[in-house]
Amino acid sequence: MRKILALILVGVMLTATLIMVGCGGAQSTTSSNEKSIKVGVSMPTKSLQRWNQDGSNMEAKLKEKGYQVDLQFAENKVETQVSQIENMITKGAKVIVVGAIDGSALSSVLDEAKSAGCAIIAYDRLIMNTDAVNAYATFDNFSVGKIQGQYIEEKLGLKEGKGPYNFEIATGPLDDNNVVYFFNGAMEVLKPYIDKGQLVVKSGQVTREQCATPNWDEAKAQERMDNIITASYTSNKIDAVLCSNDSTSLGVQSALKSAGYGSADKPMPIVTGQDANIANVKAIVSGQQAMSVFKDTRALADQVVKMVEAMVNKQEPEVNDTTTYNNGKKVIPSFLCKPQFVDKSNYKTLLIDSGYYKESDLK
Ligand code: GAL
Repeated sequence: MRKILALILVGVMLTATLIMVGCGGAQSTTSSNEKSIKVGVSMPTKSLQRWNQDGSNMEAKLKEKGYQVDLQFAENKVETQVSQIENMITKGAKVIVVGAIDGSALSSVLDEAKSAGCAIIAYDRLIMNTDAVNAYATFDNFSVGKIQGQYIEEKLGLKEGKGPYNFEIATGPLDDNNVVYFFNGAMEVLKPYIDKGQLVVKSGQVTREQCATPNWDEAKAQERMDNIITASYTSNKIDAVLCSNDSTSLGVQSALKSAGYGSADKPMPIVTGQDANIANVKAIVSGQQAMSVFKDTRALADQVVKMVEAMVNKQEPEVNDTTTYNNGKKVIPSFLCKPQFVDKSNYKTLLIDSGYYKESDLK
């Protein structure tokens, strides 16, 4: 009897073990289906249109390739971005794509990533003072500034010696490394005209520090321009404003409009921008903003997906610049996409025919 019982027991145990092995097997097949490699995408904020687009383009393209994507937005708070990246490392991301809020505030979390064997791609903005960044994908940021400067140069006829014109500048935050390039690119074109007196900056604010806009905040750009208008333009009019991106541009446009610009006898000055955000393209169509710089985020996302694939396969990512972007620790191998100017004359071809926006988006 005992023998029979023992046999039954062994039988039960064997079955149970088989079932467990079976579950384990089933589990591992499910997880190997789902186990696709994890990629983190850490974006700075949802508050600007472009980052939403960047995030969703990348998520879609990475998913198409079978990656598991963890997409996070940090609402412009550095601590949030740090903890989101930490979380991605803990969850086993093999590659993390980071659009930094403050390029100098990520050294220690990226050291953690490096020790965990996780590769880092700096997205759009360079990450400073760390050797944990493997590659950088961005647009040619110096060209962005140059395109804006050349637009003002051409529309005001500065090469032909015209002027003097009144001119002001609104650029981005001091913690965004791109701003150095936007500002220097534009100033390479415009500074000689300031020196010659063809462009007159009545506010006297001409350095990157003086013209900065913290967080690219539209309201702050507006407030600063309100103050400049009150202090320096009660009896003069402004002819051009170099705005480094579209949110600063909208802020400046609001200040100008409240000061009466935009009417037949006081037309809007030439106001630049960058990103071709929908609100700004509408402003271009209605004649309030002169131009923007179109950075096709689809092209950038494609490049980043290629970089991710290379890194996962332990290959060198494709780059086209190995000299420009020194982050204080090393020169980061970079891929620079090409920015393009957009204004009323070409927005249809560039933005609508290419499928970037639908005609109805701009209504
Ligand atoms: C920059 C970026 C620009 C603009 C700006 C505001 O770093 O290169 O395209 O979007 O941030 O977020």
